[in-house]
Amino acid sequence: MKIGGKEENVITVIMAAGKGTRMKSEKSKLVHKIYDKELVKRVVELSKAVGSDETIVVVGHLREQVEAVLGDTVTYAYQEELLGTGHALMQAGPLMEGKKGKAIILYGDVPIIRKETLLKLVEKSIKDKEYATLLTAVVDNPTGYGRIIRDVGGNIKAIVEEKDADPLQKEIKEINSGIYCFDIPELLKALELIRPNNAQGEYYLTDVIKIMNEKGLKTGAVIVEDNTEILGVNDRIQLELLTRVLRMRINTEHMKNGVTIEDSNSTYIYDNVTIGTDTVIHPNSTIKEGVIIGKNCEIGPNAYIREGCVIGDNVKVGNFVELKKTKVGNRTKVPHFIYLGDTEIGEDCNVGCGTITCNYDGKNKYKTKIGDRAFIGSNTNFIAPVTIGDDVLIAAGSTITEDVPSGMMGIARERQVNKERKKKA
Ligand code: UD1
Ligand code: CA
Repeated sequence: MKIGGKEENVITVIMAAGKGTRMKSEKSKLVHKIYDKELVKRVVELSKAVGSDETIVVVGHLREQVEAVLGDTVTYAYQEELLGTGHALMQAGPLMEGKKGKAIILYGDVPIIRKETLLKLVEKSIKDKEYATLLTAVVDNPTGYGRIIRDVGGNIKAIVEEKDADPLQKEIKEINSGIYCFDIPELLKALELIRPNNAQGEYYLTDVIKIMNEKGLKTGAVIVEDNTEILGVNDRIQLELLTRVLRMRINTEHMKNGVTIEDSNSTYIYDNVTIGTDTVIHPNSTIKEGVIIGKNCEIGPNAYIREGCVIGDNVKVGNFVELKKTKVGNRTKVPHFIYLGDTEIGEDCNVGCGTITCNYDGKNKYKTKIGDRAFIGSNTNFIAPVTIGDDVLIAAGSTITEDVPSGMMGIARERQVNKERKKKA
């Protein structure tokens, strides 16, 4: 990848061999999802977003589930026995052998770090010629984390695990996030020197810092600005917490870009959504990954805009409207109780209440195409595939099975008969 205008070899190693007992799940912790996306997949996407030249995933417990999610998008190393973070990284050793450059170390269960933070870590390690650059955080309650030991000059000396720390060290509020950027050749040399002589009998990756310092190799740290970035998932309570953190982060980004969100707590905007300025999102709306919404639209309340939707400018998508793989033209109104799936609808249309597309016959999905300026009467059923021209009027209550050419009115419903009411005896 390119860093500061220079080409550098940067790889990522993701540790994903852990058990995740506290999830109380038959599934690997790493395949549990935040906003539709597996934790480990988020971390792999992060590695790719940063521009890593290679992503190695150390799998172990329930590896087949992790591999089913990631497929051949990454290289795998295997840790059979969980003997510690240092041991996990050693399993990726043969894959790093002979390589130059930097290795970013990430965890499959720490999925919401910002790309910018990782870039900062790699940039510092290159600019300051550090052999190990740690991502650390200053927290109120450091319990459970490795503590960062610095000398009087502020240089990092070592990381001491909670279980090995003395009372004074336990007071330290700067903690190890577990995320690092290492020089690959020196990392491999240091890993060989790690011994499991500590309170937990584990091969600690954190010992690499001390080993490098003893060799006189420069180490350093980036202190994370936003501590929520280094949160990990160990149980379902943390899974919900991270989902909430991500939700607020995404919503805030859209608000900064000129989108009004009435109630962030009930607005679920997934990854990589584009929303134009002055669009207003009412409560209880969900917008799935990759959806594109134009300017000055009104969305919700209770709108569900699913994958593959592209919505123009000045569009209204009102309450209890579900859209899937649907393109909506400018100024079209889809105001209430509507389902459009696999649909393309033009500009300046109005879709009446209760309209649905019948796009699925149990086997295949079919398309509904509607032109510009169509007026769709309430409670219309479109039995796809069907094509509706421009300036068409569909009479309310119609079940449309055939195409309607431009300028025509389509009506398809039983004629009403009024019958004499039986008189009560
Ligand atoms: C580790 C760090 C600690 C840091 C903390 C941040 C060490 C020795 N300690 O501690 O300084 O503050 O992370 O959360 O590194 N894993 C494997 N194989 C193993 C062991 C762990 O793949 O054999 C994976 C786990 O699944 C997990 C990650 O590595 O994703 C961290 O392991 P964990 O046991 O949680 O490390 P901590 O003891 O919390
Ligand atoms: Ca942990």
